[in-house]
Amino acid sequence: MLFTKTSLLYRYWLRPFAFQLDAEDAHLLTFRMAKWGDLLLWQEKSDKRLAKEVFGLQFPNPVGLAAGLDKNAELLPIWEKLGFGFVEIGTVTPRPQEGNPRPRLFRLLADQGIINRMGFNNEGVEVIAERLKKQKTNLIIGGNIGKNKTTPNEEAVEDYLICFEKLFDYVHYFVVNVSSPNTPNLRALQEKEPLLHILNSLQKENQEKENPKPILLKIAPDLTDSQLDEIIEVVLEAKIDGIIATNTTISREGLKTMASKIEEIGNGGLSGQPLRERSTEVVKYLAQKSAGKIPIIAVGGVASPAQAQEKLEAGASLVQVYTGLIYEGPALIGKIKDYILRKSEKK
Ligand code: FNR
Repeated sequence: MLFTKTSLLYRYWLRPFAFQLDAEDAHLLTFRMAKWGDLLLWQEKSDKRLAKEVFGLQFPNPVGLAAGLDKNAELLPIWEKLGFGFVEIGTVTPRPQEGNPRPRLFRLLADQGIINRMGFNNEGVEVIAERLKKQKTNLIIGGNIGKNKTTPNEEAVEDYLICFEKLFDYVHYFVVNVSSPNTPNLRALQEKEPLLHILNSLQKENQEKENPKPILLKIAPDLTDSQLDEIIEVVLEAKIDGIIATNTTISREGLKTMASKIEEIGNGGLSGQPLRERSTEVVKYLAQKSAGKIPIIAVGGVASPAQAQEKLEAGASLVQVYTGLIYEGPALIGKIKDYILRKSEKK
């Protein structure tokens, strides 16, 4: 009942208003409102039956917020009150950077998708680590790390190491992001040799700690099967803890939005419904090929409980949402959790 009311409020009042605004203005306004809204929200009791242990961490529930929405870790208490079990902050880079010029965020209403070329706009690892240090939350926090735009790929490993060191005490797990299409040449780091170098270097630092933390790799949906096979080899060889599949796609296939509009928007990563099928396919491929040995967090086009379940059935242990939250509103989180509970009770 509560979900229905929140859904209706979002769909018929908040969303029509927000969707009148430029996509990034709507995002900034929502963030500002959410900071005030914190006082109005109450914390829902979490159902213990949803708790799940994955790569050695105890997740309160399997529904997470994907990277890129709260890049600077500004709204952790809000995400917790909205019912997420975990939140991935970032992508964080060593130095602050502004990202690409605006406009850089576009809604594709007919496709329930988003194209973005934000370009890792973030306040930099020092400010973000300081903020995390002060925040109290029961959420599991993932630290998604990347490199600055001006750092050449040959020196990228240093950027990942800096972010790893500075965030180490304040996050529960790490995500190595080499799959954003919006930092020139970043995705070349998904190739076996540079990827192994980055992951081995991080793992070496990690293993020297008293309590090492899980390290995951976030991959693009645009990799071929043989590239995915190579990813599995690298993950097993570097002995990292899991994969996040997937980031946004550079494909523009099968869209309902007019080609001229897509052309006008230009470069960027596509997320939401148009990504859903491919992203699930990647999860399924990885799960089958690795015989379930590698924990997977699935992300890409989840906008309903059934779509979240589809990812779990494809072999994922946890799911994340981003674009679905923009289109469906925060009631989506509770709906997914209810659905997963009902499904597990039937088994
Ligand atoms: C993203 N995503 C993203 N991913 C990442 O690893 N680091 C980042 O900084 C960002 N930034 C970002 C900005 C915007 C505006 C969007 C829409 C997405 C990708 C995101 O985490 C997710 O992988 C994809 O969006 C696919 O999931 P959804 O959106 O289809 O649920």
